Amino acid sequence: MLSRKDFPPDFTWGTATAAYQVEGAVTADGRGLSIWDTFAHTPGRIADGSTGDVADDHYRLFADDIRLLAELGLRAYRFSIAWPRIVPDGSGPTNPAGLDFYRRLAETCLEYGVTPYATLYHWDLPQPLEDGGGWMVRDTAERFRDYAAVTHAGLSDVIKHWMTLNEPWCAALVGYGSGELAPGRREGANALKAVHHLLLGHGLALEAIRSPEGSYGIVLNPAPVRAASDSPADRDAARRIDGLLNRLFLDPLLLGKYPADVLDDTGMAPWFAQYEDDLPLISAPLDFLGVNYYLPMTVAAPDGPVADPTKPSAQPGSENIVTVDTGLPRTQMDWPIQATGLRDVLVMINNLAPGLSVYVTENGAAYPDAPPVDGIVEDDERQRYLEQHITVAQRVVGEGLPLKGYFVWTLMDNFEWAWGFSRRFGIVYVDHATQQRTVKKSGRWLQRFLTA
Ligand code: FCB
Repeated sequence: MLSRKDFPPDFTWGTATAAYQVEGAVTADGRGLSIWDTFAHTPGRIADGSTGDVADDHYRLFADDIRLLAELGLRAYRFSIAWPRIVPDGSGPTNPAGLDFYRRLAETCLEYGVTPYATLYHWDLPQPLEDGGGWMVRDTAERFRDYAAVTHAGLSDVIKHWMTLNEPWCAALVGYGSGELAPGRREGANALKAVHHLLLGHGLALEAIRSPEGSYGIVLNPAPVRAASDSPADRDAARRIDGLLNRLFLDPLLLGKYPADVLDDTGMAPWFAQYEDDLPLISAPLDFLGVNYYLPMTVAAPDGPVADPTKPSAQPGSENIVTVDTGLPRTQMDWPIQATGLRDVLVMINNLAPGLSVYVTENGAAYPDAPPVDGIVEDDERQRYLEQHITVAQRVVGEGLPLKGYFVWTLMDNFEWAWGFSRRFGIVYVDHATQQRTVKKSGRWLQRFLTA
C-alpha cells in the first residue's frame, strides 16, 4: 500500500495553479492586458468560447482556496505571478497593488503552514511587449529581468522558492510555432528565436534575483520520446522530437550548449551562432529543476510529405512526424497514461546533471467529471492516475534519485488555456456559475494519503 511514510519526512507535497487560469479579476487594481486576454477574446481561439475574465475568481477567493488546500494536507502552493499585475505595461512603472496582492497571498499561505512557490512567468506576457515583437525579440528578455527584479525585491521576505519560467517549450513552440496558444503566431522554425529569448530571460532574471536565502529554478515539460520501431526512419524521428522537446531546453540549461542536430534540422544554426555568448548566463547553476510530467510519446516518420521548416508547426522541420498510439489508456486530453515515464524523465535528467534537485511541479489528469451529487464527485480515474504516479515517485526516491517534492496539477478545475472550461484537471470541482468548490474523491484520497 502506498504510504506517505515511504517518503522522506521533508518531501514537499503541494499543488499548482497559474495566474490566468484561476485568478479572474482581469481589470482589478491596475492590472494590464496580457496576450492571454487578447487571445481568449479572439473568436475561434478557445474551444468553448470562454475566457479567463472570471476563471475561479481566485483573486478574491484565494484565502478560502488556501485554507482548503491546507485542509487537504498539502503544505506547498505553487502559484504564478501575473507580470501584467506587477508591471502593467510590461516595462515602466511598477504597480504596488499588484505586489500587494501576492504579498497577501503568500502571507495567507504562511498563516496556514503552506510554503509558497512562485512562478514568475506562466505565459501571460504583457500585451504591449507582444506588440513590440514579444518573445521573438531580445528586448523582451531584458524586460523580464526587470520585472523579475522588482517582484523579487518586493516579495522575497515572504517567498523563498522561485521559478523563472513555466514550460518555455509551450510558450515558444506552441505560442509562436503552431499558434495554438497565445499569442497565436505561426512562425515555424523562427519560433526557436523565442526559445532563445525565453532562456536568456531566465538567465538574466536568475542573475538579478539570486540570493543566498532563496532557492531558484525553472520548470520544463520533458517527456520520454520513443521510436515506434527500430527502423532508421523511426529512430531518426525520435531523435528529432526528443531534440525539440527535451534537449533544446535541457542542454543549454544544464550543459551550456544547444543541440547542434536540432539547430540543423530547423535551419536555425546560423541565427544561433550569433548568440553563443549568452550560453554561460543561460547555464548558470540551478538550485532545482521543476518537471511537469503528463505523458510519454512514441513517434514515427511516415512515408509522405517532406518536412518544411517554414511551415507553422510546434515541431518545425519535423512536422511530418506523427505520434503513434501504442494502446495505452488515455485521459480526456487524449494523452497516453504511463506513470513509469516519469521515472524515465527523472533518470534522463539525473544523467545530465547528477544530483540536481528536482521537483515534480505538475502532474495530473483531465476527465469529464459529472457535477457533485450529494456533495460527491466520482473521479476514480483521476485518483488512479495520481496513485500510479506517486507510486513511481516513491520508487524513484527509494532508488536515491534527488526528487524533492510533488505538486498535483491542479487544486481546482480552471481555465485550461485553448480548451477553456471544457477540461477539468482539479482535485476540487468548481461550479463556474456559482464558484462553489467541492472536493472530489481524488482530493479526499490525497487528503487521507497525506494526513493518515
Ligand atoms: C501544462 C501547463 C498547465 C496546465 C497543464 C494541464 O502544460 O503548465 O498550466 O495547463 O499543462
